Amino acid sequence: MISRIASKFNFCGLAFTVPHERIAFARNDALRYFKRFRGLATHSDAIVYTDHGDPRKVLRRVTHDLPPQLKNDEVLLRMLAAPINPADINMIQGVYPVRPALPAVGGNEGVAEVVEVGSSVTGLQPGNWVIPSFSGWGTWKTFAVCPGTELIKIPNDILLPTAATLSVNPCTAYRMLTDFEQLSPGDVVIQNGANSGVGQAVIQLAAEMSLKTVNIVRSRPDIDQLVKMLKDLGASHVITDEFVRTPEMQELMKSLPKPKLGLNCVGGKHVADLLKYLAKRGSLVTYGGMSKQPLMVPTGSLIFNDVKIRGYWMTQWNNENKNTTESEEMWKYIGGLAQSGRLRAPVHTLVPFEQFTDAVAKSMEPLITRKQILVMDSKPNKN
Ligand SMILES: NC(=O)c1ccc[n+]([C@@H]2O[C@H](COP(=O)([O-])OP(=O)(O)OC[C@H]3O[C@@H](n4cnc5c(N)ncnc54)[C@H](OP(=O)(O)O)[C@@H]3O)[C@@H](O)[C@H]2O)c1
Repeated sequence: MISRIASKFNFCGLAFTVPHERIAFARNDALRYFKRFRGLATHSDAIVYTDHGDPRKVLRRVTHDLPPQLKNDEVLLRMLAAPINPADINMIQGVYPVRPALPAVGGNEGVAEVVEVGSSVTGLQPGNWVIPSFSGWGTWKTFAVCPGTELIKIPNDILLPTAATLSVNPCTAYRMLTDFEQLSPGDVVIQNGANSGVGQAVIQLAAEMSLKTVNIVRSRPDIDQLVKMLKDLGASHVITDEFVRTPEMQELMKSLPKPKLGLNCVGGKHVADLLKYLAKRGSLVTYGGMSKQPLMVPTGSLIFNDVKIRGYWMTQWNNENKNTTESEEMWKYIGGLAQSGRLRAPVHTLVPFEQFTDAVAKSMEPLITRKQILVMDSKPNKN
């Protein structure tokens, strides 16, 4: 019985019985020691929540050991950078449809560098840049070990902030511009929340596709600066919520073809503002609900304009389109634009990983227009 759970040793005539569990610990410690000696990572720091709640209160930084050896199908990653998105906040609050088991590591997107690959991993090698292929992966950490199949390889000659924010907002913008209406050069897209990360991606991709954009933002003291920033990205028109309800807005819209596509991440009465100008049988796609208000849809838009009220969720699209030609084409397009510098990260602040508390709080303030991006700068064994 003992021989299955322990081994016997004889040393200088003395007999020892050592439980196998102890032997495994000693072996792992030795492996970690040699990894440390070779300058390789032995542990990871992560921003973790054990309960759902206010992200400013429930997040903690914890350190845990990395497994001493990779399994055949596993990859060791050094996380480089990861943004703080509204969906990350909602997930920690427990109000997002994806709920990783607790305790969970925060963050859904981010970019990592491959450090080591297991013997059966194909298509990845040290130095490659990768992003997680699904929501709830937990990107707010310094190192990670995971199966290679959980990762998508991206070019490693992209600017770091762009790479860290590539998988959610630009892909959402791309799908919304291509999947709902057949748009041709010169067509018009109208959107609210136009300064959001998605909004900025819509502006850049639409300009790339020779589409015109009418972009609605909330007014603020530095509105001129915001208008300039969005126009520099390729926005055709940038207007405020207040302007939308003026006669000048009607003049502006008369000078343009009627928008076939409207994009909404705000909700409430702001939806009626978009629908007022949408073309007959056009599509209004809702992808976010930042005001937390139900959509206000005028009856006339449905009866007399027969508009299509649709929704879009990138997570679902990814789940339903793994390894499809559409997914490959999207990545080729988005990756190519990012490599050439024609698709840039949203306006952002790079924040050292250690200062995650400030970054999370900042990401929850209104009228900021600056995506907070955590930068890991992980040195193995720095503790
Ligand atoms: N469905 C999908 O697949 C998908 C994918 C990506 C993102 N999203 C959703 O899209 C939305 C934007 O995400 P993001 O990463 O682009 O966000 P972001 O860069 O953090 O920007 C947030 C945007 O929301 C606006 N906003 C915040 N509170 C508001 C309020 N009470 N009323 C009106 N506007 C408000 C902000 O405007 P101010 O600057 O005026 O505060 C800003 O334009 C979120 O709801 C997110 O969950 C959905």
